[in-house]
Amino acid sequence: METSNPSTETSISPEQGPGEAPRREFLTKVMAVSLGTAVSVGPLVVGSYVALDPLRKKSVGATPFLPVTSLEALPPDGLPHLFRVVSTLTDAWTRYPKIPIGAIYLRRTKENPEKVEAIHPTCPHLGCFVNARGDGTFHCPCHDSDFQTDGSIRNPQSPSPRGLDRLETRIEDGKVLVQFMNFEPGVKEPKPIL
Ligand code: FES
Repeated sequence: METSNPSTETSISPEQGPGEAPRREFLTKVMAVSLGTAVSVGPLVVGSYVALDPLRKKSVGATPFLPVTSLEALPPDGLPHLFRVVSTLTDAWTRYPKIPIGAIYLRRTKENPEKVEAIHPTCPHLGCFVNARGDGTFHCPCHDSDFQTDGSIRNPQSPSPRGLDRLETRIEDGKVLVQFMNFEPGVKEPKPIL
């Protein structure tokens, strides 16, 4: 007469079929393998994310000279004219052509038509956009900083700690190129934001 093994019977409840124990064992193994994989791969994923971080960011590049307009399009009237600055940004996978990155006032005179002056339109006080008046001087609408046509401070009561920032220009093949960059507001000396 056959007798059942009590130790085997206690591992299977009355509702469970006879295949439940191997199934539970199999699931336990799968969970153990999954957990082990997560623990070992996790740091690798985080490390790769940190290592590739610079690639994920769009790069403006160092400070290249960017074509802004043609010399012809800039009248030699001695007044500042506002132009948009566009650039091509790239990250590791994508190229973004002609993205607007800022604006610039350009000016040239009859006396020296081959020379172009570039003035940043951001107020060095707290970063508001300055307006060009009809006479070529500049005014900041936020706290009344007042600048000459060449960007220097006109009214000594102006809260701006320095004159408007000037940028380098070049003429190449009839095009005006500007070494465009932004500057920190609120400091006495121009400090590029890189
Ligand atoms: S931001 Fe221009 S005067 Fe304050």
